Amino acid sequence: MNKARAVSPANIAFIKYWGKKNPQLNIPFNDSLSMNLDRCLTTTTVTFAPVLSEDRVIINRETVRDTRRQRVTEILDAVREKAGMKLKAKVVSRNNFPTAAGIASSASAFSALALAATKAAELNLSGKDLSILARLGSGSACRSMVDGFAWWKRGTSSQTSYAVQLAPPSHWQLRDIVVVVSKEEKKSSSTEGHEGATSSPYFKTRLRKLPVRTKRMKKTILEKNFEEFGTLVEEEAIDLHMIAMTSRPPIFYWNEGTVQVMNKVRQWRKEGLRGYFTMDAGANVHVVCLSPDEVELNRRLRRLPQVVMTIVNQPAAGARLL
Ligand code: PMV
Repeated sequence: MNKARAVSPANIAFIKYWGKKNPQLNIPFNDSLSMNLDRCLTTTTVTFAPVLSEDRVIINRETVRDTRRQRVTEILDAVREKAGMKLKAKVVSRNNFPTAAGIASSASAFSALALAATKAAELNLSGKDLSILARLGSGSACRSMVDGFAWWKRGTSSQTSYAVQLAPPSHWQLRDIVVVVSKEEKKSSSTEGHEGATSSPYFKTRLRKLPVRTKRMKKTILEKNFEEFGTLVEEEAIDLHMIAMTSRPPIFYWNEGTVQVMNKVRQWRKEGLRGYFTMDAGANVHVVCLSPDEVELNRRLRRLPQVVMTIVNQPAAGARLL
């Protein structure tokens, strides 16, 4: 039987992918850096079978027929073309983190799908080609293909835009505390955000500054220079949201809880608790810290009135077969 199962982590971007140079192929304007999250996983099983007359997609026990199925079918089509086969597939996908928590799952979902679908089609793609395939589903998914800390090189074509490993999971005992301040679906998707990015009058300035910031951040990760790393992480997060807020139409991802967590993290830092915040395209905050500060930071975060829940993550391996 043509069946395979894969598990893959979500990732948090330290240097963000924001704005697409080529929207069809998800080729970004800039390189990005991220860490895989060991507690935010998607498990996906793909079965190609002659009895199926169309692709069936089941996400968290629900059969979906909307754009989500369309996006899955596009990846399956790419796999069918590479494998020279026509069989339709059943795709069953499940997240181990609360579905309604507002944690972006497209990175874990499309990296797990790329790996499971190619295996089920008996293709043996290289890590590079798997990263490219995952990227076609969702840009940030290309970074979940590699273990630990990832560097997505923007490239100039589909074949040159993929992620490579910056450092393995064991390199640095960094923690990422996902602080859920809203379980609501965000009102603006990251796709809308990417589309609007270039309309911000500050987008060009951001692009000009990014190569230096990215280079410095890579160095701080490799040298495990936490203070400088954290400073750059916050600077980058504010930059991304500044672009979103000044796009036309503007997008505000933050809510009261987001601002409360940002302020508290800065206040606690003055008291010696070393945490730094970042946010992707949503209201929830990621607080990065080192293992000695994890327990106390997590305890304080959970006591804040706006905080619904937290998930403490360590650096994780990338997509793998089960
Ligand atoms: O992969 P997408 O299209 O969901 O975009 C991800 C955008 C951010 O999460 C905000 C940044 C990033 O690099 O992950």
